[in-house]
Amino acid sequence: MADSVQRAVLTGIGGYLPETVVTNDEMSRRVDTSDQWIVERTGIRQRHFAAAHESASFMGASAARAALAMAGLPAESVGAIILATSTPDQAFPATAVHVQAALGAVNAFAFDLAAACSGFIYGLSVADAMIRAGQVQHVLVIGAEVYSRILDFSDRGTCVLFGDGAGAVLLSSRHVSVDGPGVLSTHLHADGRLADILYVDGAVGRPEASGFLRMNGREVFRHAVTLLAAAVSEALAANNLTAQDVDWLVPHQANRRIIDGVGRKLGLPPDRVVVTVDAHANTSAASIPLALAQAMADGRIKPGALVLLEALGGGLTWGSALLRI
Ligand code: ACO
Repeated sequence: MADSVQRAVLTGIGGYLPETVVTNDEMSRRVDTSDQWIVERTGIRQRHFAAAHESASFMGASAARAALAMAGLPAESVGAIILATSTPDQAFPATAVHVQAALGAVNAFAFDLAAACSGFIYGLSVADAMIRAGQVQHVLVIGAEVYSRILDFSDRGTCVLFGDGAGAVLLSSRHVSVDGPGVLSTHLHADGRLADILYVDGAVGRPEASGFLRMNGREVFRHAVTLLAAAVSEALAANNLTAQDVDWLVPHQANRRIIDGVGRKLGLPPDRVVVTVDAHANTSAASIPLALAQAMADGRIKPGALVLLEALGGGLTWGSALLRI
């Protein structure tokens, strides 16, 4: 094909949510809060919390299996596994190698990626670059998080916001026409000067620290809408597109007010924005693939749809991606 391009095409997607659902009313029995406060400020109504066996690798492997099944490909065909997480099973080896072993993806190299809530967009960008470079044919990009293990349940300002889960996509190298499917572009940013507004106060080798998530919610909120609006504009401009061309915005699911704010700045009607934060809360690196998986499974996002992704998280890190399904 003379006018064909090589792209990373989404050939499979899957998600995993822990069995245990915790409602806002249940949270209000643990901490001084209320369903009304949480819904008004965040849009969150419930979250899933992992049981002991539902580690990042367990959930990530489950989501990846579903992605491979959708693609109709065996695990041996996977060339690389990129797993984005802030809650790995261990400091090392990478959670990605546990997923590799669980899947039997014996031909894949595997590594973790740390970019907090932006982890999936970062992973997508790395996978896209590896495919464009001809390094791999099929890449699993997984977001898997067990934030319930890093939440301070005495801090009502943070513990009500997060949930656990995993999402995975399989990206495959394909020669397609210019207006065909695949990742069109990705756009990544970081500003380490803002590292202290959202972080975990602990690390391996620092036993004096608690290892809990800490956040200045107002500061994060203030930066989020501005930086995310700039990132989505950047993605559109890079492809000579406008918001009118976008079929679906699938944002990182942190907070309904941030999602609505970005949608408004783009001029996108709410019925073209995928929202799962009500049911999942903020699952960090897992939130975008979980939301995309849900909207594809229920038939809202169809083949050919132009989808805009965006996320912001600890770092700060943030970014956007445009892909055609
Ligand atoms: N229940 C009841 N009251 C609460 C709760 C709670 N769960 N949490 C805080 N409050 C109280 C505070 O104590 C405070 O009371 P005071 O006025 O008596 O001191 C009052 O509510 C207001 O607190 P603020 O922190 O100023 O509340 P705000 O309106 O900023 O909302 C929120 C807090 C929801 C965290 C908001 O700042 C926010 O959404 N920030 C974005 C953060 C975010 O989404 N982070 C996720 C990770 S980053 C990302 O993924 C984009």
